[in-house]
Amino acid sequence: MDSIIVTGNGPLKGQIPITGAKNACLTLMPATLLSEEPLTLTNAPRLSDIKTMTTLLQSLGAEVSQLQDGQVLVMSSHALDNHVADYDIVRKMRASILVLGPMLARDGHAVVSLPGGCAIGARPVDLHLKALEAMGAELELKDGYVHARAPGGLRGGVVDFPIVSVGATENALMAATLAKGTTVLKNAAREPEIVDLAQCLRRMGAQIEGEGTHTITIQGVDRLGGATHPVVTDRIELGTYMLAPAICGGEVELLGGRIDLVGAFCEKLDAAGVSVEETAKGLKVSRKNGRVRSVDVVTEPFPGFPTDLQAQMMALMCTAEGTSVLEERIFENRFMHAPELIRMGANIEVHGGVATVTGVDRLKGAPVMATDLRASVSLILAGLAAEGETIVNRVYHLDRGYEHVVRKLEGVGAKIERVSDR
Ligand code: UD1
Repeated sequence: MDSIIVTGNGPLKGQIPITGAKNACLTLMPATLLSEEPLTLTNAPRLSDIKTMTTLLQSLGAEVSQLQDGQVLVMSSHALDNHVADYDIVRKMRASILVLGPMLARDGHAVVSLPGGCAIGARPVDLHLKALEAMGAELELKDGYVHARAPGGLRGGVVDFPIVSVGATENALMAATLAKGTTVLKNAAREPEIVDLAQCLRRMGAQIEGEGTHTITIQGVDRLGGATHPVVTDRIELGTYMLAPAICGGEVELLGGRIDLVGAFCEKLDAAGVSVEETAKGLKVSRKNGRVRSVDVVTEPFPGFPTDLQAQMMALMCTAEGTSVLEERIFENRFMHAPELIRMGANIEVHGGVATVTGVDRLKGAPVMATDLRASVSLILAGLAAEGETIVNRVYHLDRGYEHVVRKLEGVGAKIERVSDR
């Protein structure tokens, strides 16, 4: 199994290109199931999660081809000859549940395996199911699968989410585009990936208003057509690489970076003493003098501080001056990176959903292991700032969400390599 070896090598300088968002692409791809005409996505990231979604769509009868080395995905769901999303694919990736709404809306029936547990908490799908029920779906849970039917087609309804869920909002939004009548999604998620999905669906002919606010209104249409849509910039990849010069000093320009995607995160960087500037090509981040200051962080749905940047921010706080409190409010059990950071000399105490981090002068390289995607990258960031060699094992987590991580960091002067069988 591959590992990544990082050796602290001082300040970084240069540019890092930011790719299209994994999480946006994973919801845009199932949108192909809503139409018989082709959907083309440009600016797609090249990641193993995208391959998993490709395999899932192909198993349902969709055609998916990659152009320009995988940066363009051309999908066609002319005829779906299978309506069962199998456990063997779904268990690899929770986002697989996003095929449920589109398949049901288009053909009136779908069977999708329940995704099961996950390293960052229980993560149920009850909100996805309740939303589809509010649109007239009949659901049965049998043998680990959701059997969904809407014999006369879905019909518009009011869905009032008790808590904000990105995935449930996406599933409901896609399903509602082909439901009869009007659907209102209340307490909808406002993430940029939802806005991107709504824009793509509108290009396909959907009638949607209010994306990016708490209330999204969808007027169902009889059919959707084809479209070409560029995937929005990955705000989590952006935030992750913004932390690289923050943690080990220097100045790095993030190409394609947009401040509106990472507003709450930039406020925290500013408070920590890291400078963020808008440039013609993106965002420039620099830290020149001394250690950063500690800041407190609470994760929240967008536009709040993203849970997907919590682990990386913790890595920065490990080297800050003072004590910071990081509170995880979206997922239970999302501090698995803390014990690994402690192995690198960090001073962290975790009580339930709250981590208290007291910065140390210098982290020390160590062999570490992570159990999820964002935790893995937080260890790479910590390794950039550590003295000596950090070996990050289980690199397959990184391949799910970070394209060319070694090449991108090497390009700004980091000492980092990927090795097999160590
Ligand atoms: C998406 C992102 C993930 C990110 C998360 C929160 C994708 C592929 N993944 O995940 O990277 O960390 O948003 O920004 O886009 N919940 C329920 N019942 C449900 C659904 C969710 O109780 O049916 C709970 C979850 O356990 C969690 C909270 O709602 O506590 C938010 O989860 P949600 O926004 O749905 O996350 P995902 O869409 O799975």
